[in-house]
Amino acid sequence: MDLTEVREIAREKLSGVCNVCPICNGQACAGNVPGVGGIGNGNSFKRNIEALREYFINLKFIHDVTDPTLTRDLFGVNLKMPVLGAPLGGGKSNYQGAITDEALNEAMIKGCHEAGTLAMVGDGPDLDSFQFNLNLIKRSGGWGIPVIMPWEQKKLLRRIKISEEAGCVAIALDLDAAGFVHLRKSGIKYEPKSIEKLKEIVEATRLPVILKGIMTVEEAEKAVKAGVKGIIVSNHGGRISDCTPGTVDVLPGISYFLEEDVVILVDGGIRTGTDVLKCLALGAHGVLMGRPLGIGAIGGGSEGVKLTLEKTYQELYTAMIMTGMQSVEKIDVDILLKR
Ligand SMILES: Cc1cc2nc3c(=O)[nH]c(=O)nc-3n(C[C@H](O)[C@H](O)[C@H](O)COP(=O)(O)O)c2cc1C
Repeated sequence: MDLTEVREIAREKLSGVCNVCPICNGQACAGNVPGVGGIGNGNSFKRNIEALREYFINLKFIHDVTDPTLTRDLFGVNLKMPVLGAPLGGGKSNYQGAITDEALNEAMIKGCHEAGTLAMVGDGPDLDSFQFNLNLIKRSGGWGIPVIMPWEQKKLLRRIKISEEAGCVAIALDLDAAGFVHLRKSGIKYEPKSIEKLKEIVEATRLPVILKGIMTVEEAEKAVKAGVKGIIVSNHGGRISDCTPGTVDVLPGISYFLEEDVVILVDGGIRTGTDVLKCLALGAHGVLMGRPLGIGAIGGGSEGVKLTLEKTYQELYTAMIMTGMQSVEKIDVDILLKR
């Protein structure tokens, strides 16, 4: 099986849901939420892509980098490269039955693990589906990070407790899901969190806590004040609002102001190894990839996820040679030229 085949199968299975476009850029699927697009006019999804395209790389060939190092330690785990799987929920609603939630999460965890990296997996509407995901993580020896929705404190703390029991590497909190206000009609109430509530969460667990959905310096500083170990600069793939900047628009400011020991991850529109290189140059320690891995999972299960990540690895490796970067830990902003 190769990636062309994976994408063809995915295109067939996703007919009417996702065109599996040559470049996944939010144009064809604008407004498709539920679905795989960006919400409203789709501008926040599209902006993620455009913002990355505004950076070029400066080619450098006068150096001695012939075999760059892509490995990186994040949250106590040695990753083959700093590219993680983003949580993708809603097999039924978003992928309209082309894959079940269970199969999607299984493919993500196994495919990422086999590619030497970690998957984050989403929460579920009930404790049973969350526990199912935790069991998948447990089976892979703890290689996974559950991303918990911002439920009211008691429910949330319960999910953290069972995540600890599953031996997860860390837990993440998908804070920006508090923007899904329309879900209140169906009884699902996610809430923004005060610094005090965030502190309570951080103190309730020995696991590192990561906050997903940070888009400003002020919020990043509040997250650090609450004691989190990592943040994910994310606009939820443009699925919360169609009026946000692209994630790479805000990443440099956030990384400039944040303390050195806080892990900064970013997601949104990252499609190639060169995109990864740009994010690392702009101050991220690692990135998350969403939709392309979803396509991989639907077209080829865990093998499709692994193949997509292996392609990204090769692209990043090549881009590092072309810019003279020896290690992912020391990627210099000088390799970028802004339009
Ligand atoms: C179909 C779909 C489902 C998603 N479900 C979740 C989720 O359950 N929890 C979450 O934190 N983020 C979710 N996201 C957001 C992604 O984790 C990620 O932030 C975003 O997709 C990254 O952008 P990219 O897909 O352009 O790479 C979802 C995104 C998509 C496209």
